[in-house]
Amino acid sequence: MKIALTYNLKKKDKSKPDDYFSEYDSESTINAIIGALKSKGYKVDAIDVEYPKLFSYFRKNSVDMVFNIAEGQSGKFRESEVPAILDYLNIPYTGSDTFSLALALNKTITKKILKAENIPTPAFQLFSKSNEELDPALRFPLIVKPNCEGSAKGINNASVVNNKEDLFKRIKETVNMYKQEALVEEFIEGKELTVGILENGKTRVLPILEIDFSTCKNSGEYFYSWRMKEFQGNKDLGLVPTFYCPARLDKETESFVQDVALKTHRAVGCLDISRTDIRLDKNNVPYVLEINPLPGLDPNESNFPIMAYAAGMKYEDLIEAIVLSASERKGLN
Ligand SMILES: Nc1ncnc2c1ncn2[C@@H]1O[C@H](COP(=O)(O)OP(=O)(O)OP(=O)(O)O)[C@@H](O)[C@H]1O
Ligand SMILES: [Mg+2]
Repeated sequence: MKIALTYNLKKKDKSKPDDYFSEYDSESTINAIIGALKSKGYKVDAIDVEYPKLFSYFRKNSVDMVFNIAEGQSGKFRESEVPAILDYLNIPYTGSDTFSLALALNKTITKKILKAENIPTPAFQLFSKSNEELDPALRFPLIVKPNCEGSAKGINNASVVNNKEDLFKRIKETVNMYKQEALVEEFIEGKELTVGILENGKTRVLPILEIDFSTCKNSGEYFYSWRMKEFQGNKDLGLVPTFYCPARLDKETESFVQDVALKTHRAVGCLDISRTDIRLDKNNVPYVLEINPLPGLDPNESNFPIMAYAAGMKYEDLIEAIVLSASERKGLN
């Protein structure tokens, strides 16, 4: 079976903002996926998805499956760019489809679906300019986030605000910087959890990962901010969170949290793989922040592989499971 791996490579470009390439994948992740696929007997071509490379590749080559981790080039539907092209060319690909990728990238519309499904998500309001009225039902502290970004882009300590003045200042900065609407949510104090779902024959909810930031006090960071994600593991900066997998939860809470993640995966229509980010408040309510249909797959750094390892899988098994799940859907095996 021949597989094309489609990805966007992280680059160094001093003329761009610091977080410009944060969503893209490193060479080591790409090499790890290629190595895993080859070790399972697949033939692999790897394509950095830049126009017009993707088109020329598929004009000249035919493949059985695309392993897609491309985050896309620009705009609020960017994660759907490659799947949309593959749909048009009738080429099967791993992971969520064009529609679900665009949906999950839009945090507000996803939250509206979660609410309709009775899945807890923090109370929120969407702002397009900075002079709208704040919904009086929302309680400070609030957090301001770009509505359609990932990798915690635009999220740092100044995103958490305690009064209207700071709120509207931050909304203005976010809208100007990211050229999109700002999502304002109640800030949920509590445990940071993330839950991986992997479909392969049956749907598997992986052991919950708890990320504890209390070991990062000296860094000044206290949640999964952009700096925390970008420099995670850097001891000099003090950005060394502690991972617990499975999370330190009682059995009842654990199964409730896993159920909420599975419901989220299904409500958004994710396929093969997803990672749902959750904050568990002091009353054990698991508030879903968002779902990631293209979770990071760095074998040493990313959250998803940590959960797969805790389930007893090797990195190669995780990568193969994604291919097998997509192949089964397309009737290829
Ligand atoms: N309402 C909230 N309450 C408490 N913490 C929050 C809230 N929203 C975001 N955070 C913190 O900010 C982090 C990043 O937020 P979120 O997951 O929404 O952004 P993202 O950019 O989509 O992340 P990812 O890197 O997973 O793609 C969360 O993991 C959490 O630590
Ligand atoms: Mg997240």
